[in-house]
Parts: sequence; structure tokens; C-alpha cells
Amino acid sequence: MTDAAPAIAAAGLRKSFGALEATRAVSLAVPPGGRHAIIGPNGAGKTTLFNLLSGALRPDQGQVLLGGVDVTREGPDGRARRGLARSFQRNSLFAEMTVAAALMTASAIADGGSAVFWRRFDRDAARAEAAAAIAARVGLADRLEELSGNLAYGAQRQLEIGLALATRPAVLLLDEPTAGMSPEETRAMQDLLAGLPRAITILVIEHDMDVVFDLAERVTVLDYGAVLLEGTPAEIRSSDLVRRRYLGERTQ
Ligand SMILES: Nc1ncnc2c1ncn2[C@@H]1O[C@H](COP(=O)(O)OP(=O)(O)O)[C@@H](O)[C@H]1O
Ligand SMILES: [Mg+2]
Repeated sequence: MTDAAPAIAAAGLRKSFGALEATRAVSLAVPPGGRHAIIGPNGAGKTTLFNLLSGALRPDQGQVLLGGVDVTREGPDGRARRGLARSFQRNSLFAEMTVAAALMTASAIADGGSAVFWRRFDRDAARAEAAAAIAARVGLADRLEELSGNLAYGAQRQLEIGLALATRPAVLLLDEPTAGMSPEETRAMQDLLAGLPRAITILVIEHDMDVVFDLAERVTVLDYGAVLLEGTPAEIRSSDLVRRRYLGERTQ
């Protein structure tokens, strides 16, 4: 029996901005259902890597594969249709909607509908039921009728993940899901991430090492755009190199 193709893989990705090599031959592969974290100092190229994976940026060299299919020449929409989702940024469209309407709209957009017609989908019982289920999954079960823009910061970030889930992704990219959160909000996010179904493969950029070591099976450490080390959380934690170059900055 052969192993299934990685749900998402980067092979030798390079991207320069002028003279700056933001990404230097980065490779990684996440198996279906895997939880893989990317860590590294500010400016290490983590978000650039996500932009290359999502199709927001084209690499100078290298490939992106989804489920074994080379999607390097596909744009963000094509990759989204293949099941790749990135956490939605909060925006004015969703801010003016209730949590329920926002989730139904995200689902309708993923189905090829247009946000303009969201009121029609508002009456779609199946979609409403799915929206309620997603709200429950991201800890917003009792906030369905609240305006998204009125939610507290942590709850807004939970909704962003809900909006991504509403597109029924196979692979979810999360860029610093706990950034700016209080310890309580971070714990709620940690529980949310731990509870996501294994049908979804997760690649997460995260600064909080408790969140990383709790969630991820594999960790890639980026440093100046290159992979410094990849390993299990235990291997990363015990690496003198990583400790000196990265963890040492953040621990006593
Ligand atoms: N669109 C861009 N144009 C020019 N430089 C960029 C662009 N995006 C990122 N960079 C630079 O690339 C480097 C890596 O940035 P980024 O990927 O955002 O790092 P990280 O997410 O690890 O903090 C930084 O030096 C940043 O200033
Ligand atoms: Mg970043």
C-alpha cells in the first residue's frame, strides 16, 4: 500500500522582492489530516510562504501541490475550488451581517453564488442549519443573531475561522490565529483548533509556543526565508539551534 499524496506540499519555493530573498527553497509536505506549524521570527518569510501556497503570489521557482496535483499555475480561486481555504480577513461586508448571515454568505460564495444575493440564502434552511453547526464548532452558538462587527476581538477571530470552515475546506491555512489575544481568548482558540475535524488538514503560523506544541505533529522553523529545521515538537524543543536562534528570544 502506498501513502496518500500530501494534502498540501511546497517543493523548493523561492520568492524574492527585489534583492530580498523572502523565501529560499522552502519545502514541506502535510499528510491528509495533519497539523503542521510554521514558526520563526518576524520577517522570516512565513506569510510570504502562505501567499505562495494560496496563490496570492507566484513563486520565482518551485511548486505547490494540493492532493498531489501541481497547482503552481493556478490562481487563488482555482486553489480554493480544490479545497484550500485561508482564514477570511474581517471586512465591512461581513461586519454588517449577523454571524448566521455571514456564515451562510461564506458558504454561498464557496458554492459559486454571489454575496449580493445572500438574502435568498438567508431563507435556505439547510444552509442555516450548517451555519448553526459551524457557529457551534467555533464557539459562537449563542451569538448567531449578533452583528459580526459587534463581536469582541477573540470572537471575531473565531468567526474568521468559521467563515473559512463554511467553504468546507480540505486544507486550512491559519496565519497567527491567536495574535493579539488575551490568555483567555488564546485558550478558547486553542480548544477550537483542537476540536477541528481530521478531515481538515491544518497548516498554521503561530507565535505562541504552547499553542504550537499542543496542536502540531510537525513544526517547520523558518529563518531568513529558509527552513532552519523541521521536526516533531519534541525535536524542535530540544534543538540547541532553534533554542539559540528563536525560542531563546522568547523564554527566560
Ligand atoms: N509584497 C512584498 N513586497 C516587498 N517585500 C515584502 C513583501 N511581502 C513581504 N516582504 C518582505 O519579505 C520578508 C518576509 O516577510 P513575511 O513573509 O511577511 O514574514 P513573516 O510573516 O515571517 O513575519 C520581510 O522582510 C518583508 O518585509
Ligand atoms: Mg507574517
